[in-house]
Amino acid sequence: DHTNADTLRTPIVAVLGHVDHGKTSLLDTIRGSAVSEGEAGAITQHIGATDIPLDTISGMAGELIDPTDFDLPGLLFIDTPGHHSFSTLRARGGALADIAVLVVDVNDGFQPQTEEAIDILRRTGTPFVVAANKADTTPGWNPQDGEPIQRSLEAQSERAESMLNENLYEIIGQLSDAGFSADLYWRVQDFQKNIGVVPLSALTGEGVPDLLTVLMGLSQRFMKEEMAIDVQGPGEGTVLEVKDERGFGSTIDTVVYDGVIRNGDTIVVGGQNEPIVTEVRALLRPRPLEEIRTEKKFEKVAEVGAAAGVKIAAPDLDQAMAGAPVRVVRDRPLEGVIEEVKAELAEIEVETAEDGVVVKADTLGSLEAMANALREAEVPILRAEVGDIAPRDIAVAETANQDEHKAILGFNVDLLANAETELENADMKLFTDEVIYQLIDDYETYVEERER
Ligand code: GTP
Ligand code: MG
Repeated sequence: DHTNADTLRTPIVAVLGHVDHGKTSLLDTIRGSAVSEGEAGAITQHIGATDIPLDTISGMAGELIDPTDFDLPGLLFIDTPGHHSFSTLRARGGALADIAVLVVDVNDGFQPQTEEAIDILRRTGTPFVVAANKADTTPGWNPQDGEPIQRSLEAQSERAESMLNENLYEIIGQLSDAGFSADLYWRVQDFQKNIGVVPLSALTGEGVPDLLTVLMGLSQRFMKEEMAIDVQGPGEGTVLEVKDERGFGSTIDTVVYDGVIRNGDTIVVGGQNEPIVTEVRALLRPRPLEEIRTEKKFEKVAEVGAAAGVKIAAPDLDQAMAGAPVRVVRDRPLEGVIEEVKAELAEIEVETAEDGVVVKADTLGSLEAMANALREAEVPILRAEVGDIAPRDIAVAETANQDEHKAILGFNVDLLANAETELENADMKLFTDEVIYQLIDDYETYVEERER
């Protein structure tokens, strides 16, 4: 029934799990893309979003799915980083989600960020399935590309199957220790009471049809009521990235998780100094199956309903902050909406000290990740801000009391042209990198060498 699909909200599926357990690879397999290969340091450091239409899902699930059973438009997948510093992005991804996939490497089992993800899911009451990934690494495995897992298991030697089972039961035991009763998904009768475990391989695609089937079933059955709520209300979203787009100036890549955003709408967006009030000039949608972080071609549309990734073009967005809220004003008093945005931003402030280093990062999420990693490394922070490195930052860094704190740590940011000469004569050190732990390592090495 197609009229129904138009009014139901697309469920948001967060993909969570420990670093390197295969979250981005799993999404690459579903999209037919290679995002994971292009990542700096081979780790994910931002939240991503990809719209997967029902057609693609039923195409991949093959015989396991009867598409006429479903009236959801598809699924919006949110990729999250597994690296330990990014706890806020995981929490935000988890909080945005209607349902989640917890990716666990079958050989590694539960690891610290698996535990952390489980805590988030428990706290937010988000239903989830476990993707027991990398089944193909089982010794003696006979790969069955893209096949449902039962079909693949029939092709395995007894020895390979029992080795995989051993690892799967280990994971089921770990879920039980965490307070969740779980079983292999085909034995689960009631997905509200038990967590389904889906053995799969992001590399060969076997078991991926099963995962998509379970996800569609979960969202259809338990989400339908929630999905139908407020689909026409004022749009609410989160900025993923601020980007210059030729012909449009500064734009914001946004996940709209509630309501509708229309061309011409007045919106309030969290900015570096204060909330930005502006009017939508264009709404640009990535093609289905394209990760919004890497998409180059966009389609102009008149409106976008939740949940979806969309690039918003509007004046004055150059000061917008990644990680900040976006709110459509519609029929509400503007002041109230501005206060809402301010309140949400106040929740994500980094703790600073009397003396310390200056931190600059590309998004609020990565700024928080930097703050977490620096706290662990016992490096105090004098000032922390989103944005490129400006002359003012150099001046602030020079005011640090201890010489070792006279430093700027810039994550994924550029040095502004007018700061270059300033830097040459400055009494401070600049560190920049695209990988958080590398950046902090470099700074720590510098401090150690000074002490010698
Ligand atoms: P973060 O985003 O940094 O947390 O990592 P991730 O969970 O997204 O992992 P990613 O997809 O980047 O994969 C990490 C490594 O595992 C890559 O080298 C992948 O090729 C490999 N990998 C992922 N899934 C599989 C799989 O099913 N089988 C095998 N053999 N390798 C896999
Ligand atoms: Mg990743």
